[in-house]
Amino acid sequence: MSYDVVVIGAGPGGYVCAIKAAQLGLKTALVEKRDTYGGTCVNVGCIPSKALLHATEMLLEAEHSFDALGIEISKPKVNLRKLMAHKTNTVEQNTKGLVFLMKKNKIDTFHGTGRVLGEGRITVTGADGASQEIAAKNIVIATGSDVAGIPGVDVAFDEKVIVSSTGALDFDKVPDHLVVVGGGVIGLELGSVWARLGAKVTVVEYLDTILGGMDGEVAKQFQRMLAKQGMEFRLGARVTAVAKKGKGASVTFEPAKGGAAETIEADAVLVATGRKPFTDGLGLAEAGVVLDERDRVRIHGHFLTSVPGIYAIGDVVAGPMLAHKAEEEGVAVAEIIAGKAGHVNYDVIPGVVYTSPEVASVGRTEEELKKAGVAYNAGKFPFTANGRARAMLQTEGFVKVLADKATDRVLGVHIVGFGAGEMIHEAAVLMEFGGSSEDLARTCHAHPTMSEAVKEAALAAFSKPIHM
Ligand code: NAI
Repeated sequence: MSYDVVVIGAGPGGYVCAIKAAQLGLKTALVEKRDTYGGTCVNVGCIPSKALLHATEMLLEAEHSFDALGIEISKPKVNLRKLMAHKTNTVEQNTKGLVFLMKKNKIDTFHGTGRVLGEGRITVTGADGASQEIAAKNIVIATGSDVAGIPGVDVAFDEKVIVSSTGALDFDKVPDHLVVVGGGVIGLELGSVWARLGAKVTVVEYLDTILGGMDGEVAKQFQRMLAKQGMEFRLGARVTAVAKKGKGASVTFEPAKGGAAETIEADAVLVATGRKPFTDGLGLAEAGVVLDERDRVRIHGHFLTSVPGIYAIGDVVAGPMLAHKAEEEGVAVAEIIAGKAGHVNYDVIPGVVYTSPEVASVGRTEEELKKAGVAYNAGKFPFTANGRARAMLQTEGFVKVLADKATDRVLGVHIVGFGAGEMIHEAAVLMEFGGSSEDLARTCHAHPTMSEAVKEAALAAFSKPIHM
């Protein structure tokens, strides 16, 4: 068996790369060890979490907004089994869709663990231990990432009481008290799910802020919103131990700046302290593929590793661990292999936290601009001043547009509010084309929409908002 391209790993980076390569006329194969395609994202990440987030957001609406909207219902009741069935069905629809896409694009698929033997050769070993060798002019490593755990702390995940994101998608009953270690994206999204279902949720975070790396003002306001929803935060707290205790667990932490340790008890603990690149068993060292100081596959300008004909994309290489970043890289590397100009603009990769309200961001934060010494104008507009938001009782949050002081080019847009994850894309498109805040403000926006707040924030950056 001989191919133009063999992709190892069928996550969003890998399967998208395979589809693009096939569309460009390359003979393509995809190797995957899971029974289903889609990687962490589709199977145990983005997709199932969004099913749970949506269902519980509806619950929140029914509990807190219906009355004010004039809809009287009896207290909504949660059927956790049905809610989980919705999650499972959603995942299944997506994985079935991927089987269809592989067939449609005539991509050969191999079920098993791929191992790189060197330039142009890989083996695939199935669950029964049988191996087969495949020849490939080009190999793309898209093996993604795995749960990192807490550096220096022994965490015995059982995925029932001490869980990673995988276990937190699958509790069979709502824990009375869930402690979340890590106030990053996973901790806040899955913490939100269980808080809405009635758990007391305590987030223990090392930094002085949740969502480190996001715009500081956004993170601060967002934390206040989550606290209003009942989430508790212990910031500046370094977790030093997570242990099973009776039927539950205990979490020990100490002030990040030093001081006395404290232990709290929980029915379940979600450890969400980041992910690490997955390179185990790939034979990379033997094949001569060099890793960087953080065990990511080192790549050069065009996704090429230290070995000719071997490329790497997605979570296994440097950059934000985001499905859509991996997809862009998958397309770009397929184009490069096909002799075309593949390119990813890393300055315009949106980030979204799918909580309620959502947080969305693209480009640089105020903190980053200050640190880089870039002079900028900031325009802000609150959803309290937006008619559509009032009609929907979704007035929490604001839009912030940051534009270069000298050129007015938009450098960053940050939104916290209902639908932020959809609204952010008009900013992404604008930034992709090097647009200014005046371009954004002079673009006619339909009325009444939440997106008018984006236009108003842009107006505030280059002139004055109309509705404030
Ligand atoms: P993260 O890197 O977003 O957050 C981890 C947090 O844990 C950090 O704030 C860190 O300061 C904290 N931490 C580390 N060690 C600690 C300790 N000993 N004690 C207390 N706190 C500690 O990682 P997370 O949330 O696990 O997500 C993993 C990856 O998956 C990220 O790259 C994230 O972007 C991605 N992801 C993205 C989603 C999205 O785009 N909506 C959803 C879920 C995950």
